[in-house]
Amino acid sequence: MTKRALITGITGQDGSYLAEFLLDAGYEVIGMVRRSSTVTFERIAHLQDRIATVHGDLLDQASLIELLRTYEPDEVYNLAAQSFVQTSFGQPVLTGDVTALGVTRILDAIRIVNPAIRFYQASSSEMFGKVVEVPQSETTPFYPRSPYGVAKVYGHWITVNYRESYDLFACSGILFNHESPRRGLEFVTRKISNAVAKIKLGRAEELRLGNLDAKRDWGFAGDYVRAMWKMLQQDSPDDYVVSTGETHSVREFCEVAFGHVGLDWEQYVVVDEAFFRPAEVDLLVGDSSKALTELDWSPEVDFEQLVTMMVDADMDLLSGRLDAIG
Ligand code: NAP
Ligand code: GDD
Repeated sequence: MTKRALITGITGQDGSYLAEFLLDAGYEVIGMVRRSSTVTFERIAHLQDRIATVHGDLLDQASLIELLRTYEPDEVYNLAAQSFVQTSFGQPVLTGDVTALGVTRILDAIRIVNPAIRFYQASSSEMFGKVVEVPQSETTPFYPRSPYGVAKVYGHWITVNYRESYDLFACSGILFNHESPRRGLEFVTRKISNAVAKIKLGRAEELRLGNLDAKRDWGFAGDYVRAMWKMLQQDSPDDYVVSTGETHSVREFCEVAFGHVGLDWEQYVVVDEAFFRPAEVDLLVGDSSKALTELDWSPEVDFEQLVTMMVDADMDLLSGRLDAIG
Protein backbone atom coordinates (compact mmCIF):
# COMPACT_ATOMS: atom_id res chain seq x y z
CA MET A 1 0.00 0.00 0.00
CA THR A 2 1.39 3.42 -0.95
CA LYS A 3 1.74 5.67 2.08
CA ARG A 4 0.46 9.24 1.93
CA ALA A 5 2.19 12.12 3.70
CA LEU A 6 0.95 15.66 4.29
CA ILE A 7 3.70 18.26 4.66
CA THR A 8 2.96 21.72 6.07
CA GLY A 9 5.64 24.22 5.05
CA ILE A 10 6.40 22.35 1.82
CA THR A 11 7.48 25.60 0.13
CA GLY A 12 10.24 26.08 2.73
CA GLN A 13 13.80 24.75 2.72
CA ASP A 14 13.06 21.54 4.64
CA GLY A 15 9.72 20.95 2.94
CA SER A 16 11.39 20.71 -0.45
CA TYR A 17 14.03 18.21 0.72
CA LEU A 18 11.50 16.13 2.65
CA ALA A 19 9.17 16.00 -0.36
CA GLU A 20 12.04 14.72 -2.54
CA PHE A 21 12.98 12.13 0.07
CA LEU A 22 9.41 10.84 0.52
CA LEU A 23 8.76 10.69 -3.24
CA ASP A 24 11.93 8.62 -3.67
CA ALA A 25 10.69 6.34 -0.87
CA GLY A 26 7.46 5.74 -2.84
CA TYR A 27 5.14 8.05 -0.89
CA GLU A 28 2.28 10.07 -2.25
CA VAL A 29 3.03 13.63 -1.14
CA ILE A 30 0.47 16.31 -0.40
CA GLY A 31 1.89 19.76 0.33
CA MET A 32 -0.09 22.33 2.28
CA VAL A 33 0.46 25.87 1.00
CA ARG A 34 -1.03 29.14 2.22
CA ARG A 35 -2.66 31.64 -0.03
CA SER A 36 -0.40 34.42 -1.18
CA SER A 37 -0.57 37.07 -3.90
CA THR A 38 2.54 35.66 -5.55
CA VAL A 39 3.64 32.08 -6.13
CA THR A 40 6.20 30.85 -3.58
CA PHE A 41 6.96 27.51 -5.25
CA GLU A 42 10.59 28.18 -6.27
CA ARG A 43 11.99 25.37 -4.11
CA ILE A 44 9.43 22.80 -5.27
CA ALA A 45 9.03 23.86 -8.91
CA HIS A 46 10.96 20.75 -10.02
CA LEU A 47 8.50 18.51 -8.10
CA GLN A 48 5.27 20.11 -9.28
CA ASP A 49 4.14 17.20 -11.45
CA ARG A 50 4.83 14.68 -8.66
CA ILE A 51 3.15 16.33 -5.67
CA ALA A 52 -0.29 17.75 -4.97
CA THR A 53 -0.41 21.23 -3.45
CA VAL A 54 -3.50 22.05 -1.41
CA HIS A 55 -4.54 25.22 0.40
CA GLY A 56 -4.52 25.53 4.17
CA ASP A 57 -3.07 27.69 6.91
CA LEU A 58 -1.82 26.96 10.42
CA LEU A 59 -3.85 29.98 11.54
CA ASP A 60 -7.09 28.39 10.33
CA GLN A 61 -8.23 25.32 12.25
CA ALA A 62 -11.10 24.45 9.89
CA SER A 63 -8.76 24.31 6.89
CA LEU A 64 -6.59 21.75 8.71
CA ILE A 65 -9.54 19.54 9.65
CA GLU A 66 -10.83 19.70 6.09
CA LEU A 67 -7.45 18.72 4.63
CA LEU A 68 -7.11 15.71 6.93
CA ARG A 69 -10.66 14.57 6.12
CA THR A 70 -10.20 14.98 2.38
CA TYR A 71 -6.69 13.56 1.89
CA GLU A 72 -6.51 10.97 4.70
CA PRO A 73 -2.72 11.07 5.20
CA ASP A 74 -0.87 8.31 7.10
CA GLU A 75 1.79 10.77 8.26
CA VAL A 76 1.80 14.54 8.89
CA TYR A 77 5.05 16.51 8.98
CA ASN A 78 4.48 19.93 10.57
CA LEU A 79 7.29 22.05 9.15
CA ALA A 80 5.36 25.30 8.76
CA ALA A 81 6.37 28.14 11.06
CA GLN A 82 7.37 31.77 11.27
CA SER A 83 10.93 30.51 11.44
CA PHE A 84 13.16 33.60 11.44
CA VAL A 85 14.38 34.48 14.95
CA GLN A 86 15.04 38.16 14.21
CA THR A 87 11.47 38.64 12.88
CA SER A 88 10.06 37.02 16.01
CA PHE A 89 11.25 40.00 18.08
CA GLY A 90 9.32 42.39 15.81
CA GLN A 91 6.25 40.13 15.39
CA PRO A 92 6.04 38.16 18.66
CA VAL A 93 2.27 37.65 18.63
CA LEU A 94 2.14 36.41 15.04
CA THR A 95 5.08 34.12 15.77
CA GLY A 96 3.26 32.67 18.79
CA ASP A 97 0.05 32.21 16.82
CA VAL A 98 1.71 30.31 13.95
CA THR A 99 4.71 28.63 15.54
CA ALA A 100 3.14 27.75 18.92
CA LEU A 101 -0.67 27.61 18.63
CA GLY A 102 -0.43 26.33 15.06
CA VAL A 103 0.93 23.09 16.51
CA THR A 104 -2.11 22.71 18.76
CA ARG A 105 -4.42 23.38 15.84
CA ILE A 106 -2.95 20.58 13.78
CA LEU A 107 -2.62 18.14 16.68
CA ASP A 108 -6.24 18.74 17.61
CA ALA A 109 -7.30 18.27 13.99
CA ILE A 110 -5.53 14.88 14.06
CA ARG A 111 -7.22 13.96 17.35
CA ILE A 112 -10.62 14.83 15.90
CA VAL A 113 -10.24 13.34 12.40
CA ASN A 114 -7.99 10.29 12.85
CA PRO A 115 -5.81 9.71 15.93
CA ALA A 116 -3.92 6.96 14.06
CA ILE A 117 -2.12 9.55 11.89
CA ARG A 118 1.59 9.74 12.75
CA PHE A 119 2.81 13.27 13.50
CA TYR A 120 6.22 14.96 13.29
CA GLN A 121 6.80 18.35 14.96
CA ALA A 122 9.72 20.51 13.80
CA SER A 123 11.21 21.50 17.15
CA SER A 124 14.42 23.45 17.42
CA SER A 125 17.76 23.80 19.17
CA GLU A 126 16.73 27.44 19.64
CA MET A 127 14.74 26.06 22.63
CA PHE A 128 18.06 25.52 24.47
CA GLY A 129 18.85 29.25 24.06
CA LYS A 130 21.08 30.31 26.96
CA VAL A 131 22.37 26.79 27.29
CA VAL A 132 22.56 25.18 30.72
CA GLU A 133 24.84 22.36 29.55
CA VAL A 134 27.20 21.56 26.69
CA PRO A 135 26.51 19.63 24.50
CA GLN A 136 22.70 19.72 24.48
CA SER A 137 20.71 16.48 24.44
CA GLU A 138 17.06 15.40 24.85
CA THR A 139 17.39 15.82 28.64
CA THR A 140 18.88 19.34 28.61
CA PRO A 141 16.45 21.88 30.12
CA PHE A 142 15.15 24.61 27.81
CA TYR A 143 16.00 28.31 28.23
CA PRO A 144 14.68 30.07 25.10
CA ARG A 145 16.00 33.53 24.22
CA SER A 146 13.54 34.77 21.59
CA PRO A 147 9.78 34.81 21.01
CA TYR A 148 10.48 32.18 18.34
CA GLY A 149 12.31 29.98 20.86
CA VAL A 150 9.50 30.40 23.39
CA ALA A 151 6.93 29.45 20.73
CA LYS A 152 8.93 26.33 19.83
CA VAL A 153 9.06 25.27 23.49
CA TYR A 154 5.25 25.47 23.54
CA GLY A 155 5.08 23.45 20.30
CA HIS A 156 7.38 20.83 21.77
CA TRP A 157 5.44 20.39 25.00
CA ILE A 158 2.02 20.36 23.36
CA THR A 159 3.30 17.56 21.11
CA VAL A 160 4.43 15.60 24.18
CA ASN A 161 1.15 16.39 25.90
CA TYR A 162 -1.02 15.11 23.03
CA ARG A 163 1.09 11.96 22.88
CA GLU A 164 0.58 11.34 26.58
CA SER A 165 -3.07 12.50 26.77
CA TYR A 166 -4.51 10.96 23.62
CA ASP A 167 -1.97 8.26 22.76
CA LEU A 168 -1.07 9.97 19.47
CA PHE A 169 2.03 8.79 17.60
CA ALA A 170 3.56 12.26 17.92
CA CYS A 171 7.32 12.90 17.73
CA SER A 172 9.30 16.06 18.31
CA GLY A 173 12.56 16.36 16.39
CA ILE A 174 14.87 18.82 18.12
CA LEU A 175 16.89 19.82 15.10
CA PHE A 176 19.99 21.97 15.24
CA ASN A 177 20.62 24.54 12.48
CA HIS A 178 20.60 22.96 9.04
CA GLU A 179 21.39 24.77 5.86
CA SER A 180 21.58 24.27 2.10
CA PRO A 181 21.64 26.18 -1.17
CA ARG A 182 17.85 26.46 -0.66
CA ARG A 183 18.16 28.28 2.67
CA GLY A 184 16.28 31.58 2.88
CA LEU A 185 18.48 34.60 2.08
CA GLU A 186 17.94 36.20 5.50
CA PHE A 187 19.62 33.39 7.48
CA VAL A 188 23.29 34.02 8.15
CA THR A 189 24.77 31.11 6.18
CA ARG A 190 22.95 31.88 2.94
CA LYS A 191 23.43 35.61 3.48
CA ILE A 192 27.18 34.91 3.55
CA SER A 193 27.31 32.45 0.62
CA ASN A 194 25.20 34.76 -1.52
CA ALA A 195 27.31 37.82 -0.67
CA VAL A 196 30.54 35.90 -1.36
CA ALA A 197 29.27 35.07 -4.86
CA LYS A 198 28.13 38.65 -5.48
CA ILE A 199 31.47 40.09 -4.31
CA LYS A 200 33.44 37.57 -6.36
CA LEU A 201 31.40 38.46 -9.45
CA GLY A 202 31.87 42.19 -8.85
CA ARG A 203 28.23 42.86 -7.96
CA ALA A 204 28.74 43.84 -4.30
CA GLU A 205 31.53 45.39 -2.29
CA GLU A 206 30.83 44.46 1.31
CA LEU A 207 28.79 42.19 3.59
CA ARG A 208 27.15 43.65 6.71
CA LEU A 209 26.72 41.17 9.56
CA GLY A 210 25.86 41.20 13.27
CA ASN A 211 27.42 39.02 15.97
CA LEU A 212 30.40 37.17 14.47
CA ASP A 213 31.08 35.28 17.72
CA ALA A 214 27.81 33.32 17.75
CA LYS A 215 28.46 29.58 17.43
CA ARG A 216 26.15 27.10 15.78
CA ASP A 217 26.05 23.37 15.09
CA TRP A 218 25.44 23.60 11.33
CA GLY A 219 24.41 20.54 9.29
CA PHE A 220 22.98 19.90 5.82
CA ALA A 221 19.17 20.00 5.46
CA GLY A 222 19.17 17.03 3.06
CA ASP A 223 20.65 14.85 5.84
CA TYR A 224 18.20 16.10 8.46
CA VAL A 225 14.96 15.23 6.64
CA ARG A 226 16.01 11.55 6.73
CA ALA A 227 15.93 11.74 10.52
CA MET A 228 12.39 13.19 10.47
CA TRP A 229 11.11 10.23 8.45
CA LYS A 230 12.98 7.69 10.58
CA MET A 231 11.29 9.00 13.74
CA LEU A 232 7.87 8.17 12.30
CA GLN A 233 8.93 4.61 11.33
CA GLN A 234 9.75 3.50 14.91
CA ASP A 235 7.59 1.15 17.01
CA SER A 236 6.83 3.93 19.48
CA PRO A 237 6.92 7.73 19.35
CA ASP A 238 9.72 9.66 21.02
CA ASP A 239 11.78 12.87 20.83
CA TYR A 240 15.24 13.11 19.30
CA VAL A 241 18.07 15.62 19.02
CA VAL A 242 19.48 15.84 15.47
CA SER A 243 22.86 17.55 15.12
CA THR A 244 26.43 17.12 13.87
CA GLY A 245 28.16 17.45 17.26
CA GLU A 246 30.49 20.18 15.91
CA THR A 247 30.20 23.90 16.50
CA HIS A 248 31.60 26.81 14.46
CA SER A 249 31.35 30.58 14.75
CA VAL A 250 29.86 32.95 12.18
CA ARG A 251 33.43 34.23 11.77
CA GLU A 252 34.66 30.72 10.85
CA PHE A 253 31.82 30.37 8.35
CA CYS A 254 33.00 33.62 6.72
CA GLU A 255 36.62 32.44 6.64
CA VAL A 256 35.77 29.20 4.82
CA ALA A 257 33.19 30.77 2.48
CA PHE A 258 35.35 33.71 1.32
CA GLY A 259 38.48 31.50 1.30
CA HIS A 260 36.77 29.05 -1.07
CA VAL A 261 36.79 31.68 -3.85
CA GLY A 262 40.22 33.07 -2.94
CA LEU A 263 39.06 36.13 -0.96
CA ASP A 264 40.06 37.39 2.50
CA TRP A 265 36.83 37.81 4.52
CA GLU A 266 38.27 40.57 6.71
CA GLN A 267 38.44 42.91 3.73
CA TYR A 268 34.69 42.66 3.05
CA VAL A 269 32.78 41.95 6.27
CA VAL A 270 31.49 45.00 8.17
CA VAL A 271 29.95 44.57 11.62
CA ASP A 272 26.59 46.36 11.77
CA GLU A 273 24.61 46.85 15.01
CA ALA A 274 21.35 46.52 13.03
CA PHE A 275 21.86 42.76 12.87
CA PHE A 276 22.39 42.21 16.59
CA ARG A 277 19.47 40.68 18.53
CA PRO A 278 17.90 41.89 21.81
CA ALA A 279 18.89 38.54 23.35
CA GLU A 280 21.39 36.20 21.70
CA VAL A 281 21.98 32.46 21.66
CA ASP A 282 25.75 32.29 21.99
CA LEU A 283 26.58 28.62 21.60
CA LEU A 284 24.76 25.58 20.30
CA VAL A 285 26.24 22.11 19.92
CA GLY A 286 24.16 18.96 19.97
CA ASP A 287 24.58 15.43 21.24
CA SER A 288 22.65 13.23 18.80
CA SER A 289 23.82 9.87 20.16
CA LYS A 290 20.20 8.81 20.79
CA ALA A 291 19.39 9.36 17.09
CA LEU A 292 22.48 7.36 16.14
CA THR A 293 21.63 4.44 18.45
CA GLU A 294 17.86 4.27 17.98
CA LEU A 295 17.35 5.65 14.46
CA ASP A 296 20.71 4.65 12.97
CA TRP A 297 20.98 8.27 11.81
CA SER A 298 24.17 10.26 11.33
CA PRO A 299 25.01 13.22 9.09
CA GLU A 300 26.87 12.69 5.79
CA VAL A 301 27.86 16.28 4.91
CA ASP A 302 30.47 18.00 7.12
CA PHE A 303 30.94 21.72 7.82
CA GLU A 304 33.48 22.43 5.06
CA GLN A 305 31.43 20.51 2.47
CA LEU A 306 28.31 22.43 3.50
CA VAL A 307 29.93 25.86 3.19
CA THR A 308 31.56 25.14 -0.16
CA MET A 309 28.37 23.55 -1.52
CA MET A 310 26.45 26.73 -0.67
CA VAL A 311 29.06 29.07 -2.16
CA ASP A 312 29.32 26.99 -5.35
CA ALA A 313 25.54 26.96 -5.75
CA ASP A 314 25.31 30.74 -5.36
CA MET A 315 28.17 31.21 -7.84
CA ASP A 316 26.24 29.04 -10.32
CA LEU A 317 22.96 30.82 -9.67
CA LEU A 318 24.37 34.33 -9.97
CA SER A 319 26.48 33.58 -13.03
CA GLY A 320 23.38 32.25 -14.78
CA ARG A 321 24.52 28.64 -14.84
CA LEU A 322 21.36 27.71 -12.87
CA ASP A 323 17.83 29.10 -13.24
CA ALA A 324 16.77 28.21 -9.69
CA ILE A 325 18.13 26.34 -6.71
CA GLY A 326 15.82 23.35 -6.91
P1 NAP B 1 11.35 28.01 6.16
O1 NAP B 1 12.22 27.83 4.95
O2 NAP B 1 11.24 29.37 6.76
O3 NAP B 1 9.88 27.51 5.76
C1 NAP B 1 8.76 27.80 6.57
C2 NAP B 1 7.51 27.29 5.88
O4 NAP B 1 6.38 27.57 6.69
C3 NAP B 1 7.23 27.93 4.51
O5 NAP B 1 6.76 26.94 3.63
C4 NAP B 1 6.10 28.92 4.83
O6 NAP B 1 5.26 29.19 3.73
C5 NAP B 1 5.35 28.11 5.87
N1 NAP B 1 4.42 28.90 6.68
C6 NAP B 1 4.69 30.00 7.41
N2 NAP B 1 3.57 30.44 8.03
C7 NAP B 1 2.57 29.58 7.70
C8 NAP B 1 1.20 29.50 8.02
N3 NAP B 1 0.59 30.40 8.81
N4 NAP B 1 0.48 28.46 7.51
C9 NAP B 1 1.06 27.57 6.70
N5 NAP B 1 2.35 27.62 6.33
C10 NAP B 1 3.11 28.60 6.83
O7 NAP B 1 11.79 27.03 7.32
P2 NAP B 1 12.74 25.72 7.26
O8 NAP B 1 14.15 26.15 7.45
O9 NAP B 1 12.36 24.87 6.11
O10 NAP B 1 12.31 25.00 8.63
C11 NAP B 1 11.23 24.08 8.67
C12 NAP B 1 10.73 23.95 10.10
O11 NAP B 1 11.78 23.49 10.94
C13 NAP B 1 10.26 25.26 10.74
O12 NAP B 1 9.20 24.95 11.62
C14 NAP B 1 11.46 25.74 11.53
O13 NAP B 1 11.05 26.58 12.59
C15 NAP B 1 12.01 24.41 12.01
N6 NAP B 1 13.45 24.35 12.27
C16 NAP B 1 14.32 24.75 11.30
C17 NAP B 1 15.68 24.63 11.53
C18 NAP B 1 16.69 25.04 10.50
O14 NAP B 1 17.86 25.21 10.84
N7 NAP B 1 16.30 25.18 9.23
C19 NAP B 1 16.15 24.10 12.75
C20 NAP B 1 15.22 23.68 13.70
C21 NAP B 1 13.86 23.80 13.44
P3 NAP B 1 5.56 30.41 2.69
O15 NAP B 1 6.46 29.85 1.64
O16 NAP B 1 4.19 30.73 2.20
O17 NAP B 1 6.21 31.51 3.48
N1 GDD C 1 20.36 36.11 10.21
C1 GDD C 1 21.51 36.71 10.58
N2 GDD C 1 21.95 37.79 9.87
N3 GDD C 1 22.19 36.21 11.63
C2 GDD C 1 23.37 36.81 11.95
C3 GDD C 1 23.87 37.91 11.25
C4 GDD C 1 23.13 38.44 10.17
O1 GDD C 1 23.50 39.40 9.51
N4 GDD C 1 25.06 38.24 11.81
C5 GDD C 1 25.29 37.39 12.80
N5 GDD C 1 24.26 36.53 12.91
C6 GDD C 1 24.12 35.48 13.93
C7 GDD C 1 22.80 35.53 14.69
O2 GDD C 1 22.84 36.55 15.69
C8 GDD C 1 22.75 34.12 15.25
O3 GDD C 1 23.51 34.04 16.44
C9 GDD C 1 23.48 33.28 14.17
O4 GDD C 1 24.14 34.21 13.30
C10 GDD C 1 22.55 32.40 13.34
O5 GDD C 1 21.46 33.20 12.89
P1 GDD C 1 20.40 32.62 11.81
O6 GDD C 1 21.10 32.09 10.62
O7 GDD C 1 19.39 33.69 11.60
O8 GDD C 1 19.79 31.34 12.54
P2 GDD C 1 19.27 31.10 14.04
O9 GDD C 1 20.27 30.23 14.74
O10 GDD C 1 18.88 32.36 14.70
O11 GDD C 1 17.93 30.28 13.78
C11 GDD C 1 17.92 29.20 12.84
O12 GDD C 1 18.22 28.00 13.51
C12 GDD C 1 17.27 27.57 14.49
C13 GDD C 1 17.80 26.29 15.10
O13 GDD C 1 18.71 26.57 16.13
C14 GDD C 1 16.51 29.17 12.22
O14 GDD C 1 16.52 28.24 11.14
C15 GDD C 1 15.47 28.71 13.19
O15 GDD C 1 14.21 28.52 12.50
C16 GDD C 1 15.94 27.39 13.81
O16 GDD C 1 14.99 26.88 14.70
